[in-house]
Amino acid sequence: MKAVRINEFGGLDVLQWAEVPEPKPRPGQVLIKVDSSGVNYADIMRRQGNYPGPDLPATLGLEAAGAVAELGEGVTGLTVGQRVMAMGPQGNAEYVAVNANYVFPYPETVDPVQAGGMPIVFLTAYHLLKTRGQLQPGDTVLIQAGASGVGTVAIQLAKAWGARVITTASSPEKLDLARSLGADETINYAAQDFEEEVRQLTDGDGVELVLECVGGPVLEKSVRCVASYGKLISFGNASGTAAALPSGDIFAANRTVIGFSMGRSPMGRLDHPAAMAELFPMLAQGQVRLVVDRVLPMSQAAQAHQHLSNRGSQGKVILTP
Ligand SMILES: NC(=O)c1ccc[n+]([C@@H]2O[C@H](COP(=O)([O-])OP(=O)(O)OC[C@H]3O[C@@H](n4cnc5c(N)ncnc54)[C@H](OP(=O)(O)O)[C@@H]3O)[C@@H](O)[C@H]2O)c1
Repeated sequence: MKAVRINEFGGLDVLQWAEVPEPKPRPGQVLIKVDSSGVNYADIMRRQGNYPGPDLPATLGLEAAGAVAELGEGVTGLTVGQRVMAMGPQGNAEYVAVNANYVFPYPETVDPVQAGGMPIVFLTAYHLLKTRGQLQPGDTVLIQAGASGVGTVAIQLAKAWGARVITTASSPEKLDLARSLGADETINYAAQDFEEEVRQLTDGDGVELVLECVGGPVLEKSVRCVASYGKLISFGNASGTAAALPSGDIFAANRTVIGFSMGRSPMGRLDHPAAMAELFPMLAQGQVRLVVDRVLPMSQAAQAHQHLSNRGSQGKVILTP
């Protein structure tokens, strides 16, 4: 079979569409014949050597969807041929073996090409808003980078759960997309001072919840957008820039700063099956959808990586074998 491989960390030129042995499912694993596999910002960081993963040489990807090809010893509740989506390393390949705990049979209404781009963004947005954020109807949430893969889902879920959504992005086109997904207010944070805008939009109170994934000065200002007793969840650092957080911005204003990493959560700590049981009906009823930026063949993974690195994507980029 073929897979998107890296033999070393580096630029786009380290990506190869190369022949590798087909994986064998270990006990507790499921082998999937892949229909599609998403590209996430973490794949860019992984290629550059800034994100954990298997020893090199290795296959990229953190999620995939396809047909169950083989069940490892002890796996129950799934059948060969069933269509599933899954989270797990090495998904950018024709076949992937993943832990059965992270395999989810999906509704027939979901497009098999879109399915491979869903698990990471849907589960991340769900756990940010619900599990960690404890979002309540009527809350105001500030979602940074609203046109990102995660942002496009978080906007829709927050609206479906009764929140007011303020979101940011770096271009008018991205803000148009955010509004089309239900965002109540949008701010171009490349052109405007979003801290000042949020203050005005909330009559000086700030917001109950901030989802922050850009880091650096955006994180510093985002903390000051949180209302008293509100929360900020830091879940990424797309800018690659360090932040300096004055302690007074946290304690003196009774704010809570939370960290979230789905990939580095201990096994079983996050209830993914319960999340999917809530999300799949919302997908089937059209309450939420995946925003697909483009679908590319896996052999063109470098083009996908370049598009994400350039901040060009709106929603998800998906690869097919
Ligand atoms: N903690 C977790 O479990 C978890 C899970 C999934 C994703 N994440 C994080 O969530 C964020 C979004 O992930 P994604 O896969 O949805 O990413 P994505 O679609 O590639 O979006 C990333 C966005 O970040 C913004 N950004 C700001 N500065 C950037 C820079 N210097 N380079 C690139 N992008 C920059 C861009 O939006 P603008 O152009 O509008 O600024 C860009 O579109 C990432 O930080 C990722 O690491 C975390």
